[in-house]
Amino acid sequence: MPQLLYTIDEVRKTIKNIKSSNKTIGLVPTMGYLHDGHISLINQSNKDNDITIISVFVNPTQFGVNEDFDSYPRDLKRDLSVLNDSVDYVFTPSKDIMYPSGFDTQIIVNKYSSGLCGVSRPGHFNGVAIVVTKLLNIITPDKVYFGEKDMQQYLLISQLIKDLNINVNAIGCTIIRESDGLAMSSRNVYLSNDERKQAPILYKALNLAKELVAKGLYNTEQIIKLVTATINTMPLAEIDYIEIRDMDSWEAIENIENGKVLLALAVKFGKTRLIDNMIINK
Ligand code: PAJ
Repeated sequence: MPQLLYTIDEVRKTIKNIKSSNKTIGLVPTMGYLHDGHISLINQSNKDNDITIISVFVNPTQFGVNEDFDSYPRDLKRDLSVLNDSVDYVFTPSKDIMYPSGFDTQIIVNKYSSGLCGVSRPGHFNGVAIVVTKLLNIITPDKVYFGEKDMQQYLLISQLIKDLNINVNAIGCTIIRESDGLAMSSRNVYLSNDERKQAPILYKALNLAKELVAKGLYNTEQIIKLVTATINTMPLAEIDYIEIRDMDSWEAIENIENGKVLLALAVKFGKTRLIDNMIINK
């Protein structure tokens, strides 16, 4: 069983002890309701570090007023049984510990909070930036792990770490999928049976785009049209966005010219909003 840490003081004392014996620390920030996507980050951290800490905190500042903060699945008992002995510590602070009354800071990372989820979820990335900065300041890990499932989040945090000279190495880990291609997500539990059956269309559509590029179709408007048509074959799918962007400049591109581009999408099935993406090489 991992040791549970609830307060910032407890964490700081624990970290001091670990560092006094020259051990390296990996941090995996999560909002809990753990699945194999989270576990893959933990496995990578265990490979790279002596000690792995996971945080489980449903961060209120990254949810919009009409979003699912209240209904977001929370079950620490379940999380601990999924974790078993795979991590050394679980930091699971209360809302009041992370945001005592009077909390008054914003962190805005301009480029990577624009577009994609930054448009459909205004303020979301400011909340992510705040909580991750706080976790990095509290835990001071050597390495911190993020999934490429949330590529925009990973790029934004990497920028933040660089800009604010935070002494940590951010590691991106590949997307873990169900056997039918649906990217694992804590939100998948919201899907009805019918929605769940239709949701793998997202991965099929991403693969179609990859094939089209491999066959020589480089015009992004046409690619997005075909991806849209594929997703729309599922009656329960409601597209939020489908975009192709350059990962460095973060510009939407008209023609795939050289190197890697990101095809990212968000699609609602009923009340559940799913995101997925694929890096496409020319
Ligand atoms: P959460 O959605 O719990 O995800 C925690 C980490 O797991 C993120 O880095 C996410 O990208 C990664 N992850 C989720 N599903 C994955 C999958 N199928 N394959 C690989 N990695 C996956 O993302 C958050 O929490 C929060 O925004 C957080 C960073 C914890 C800040 O509150």
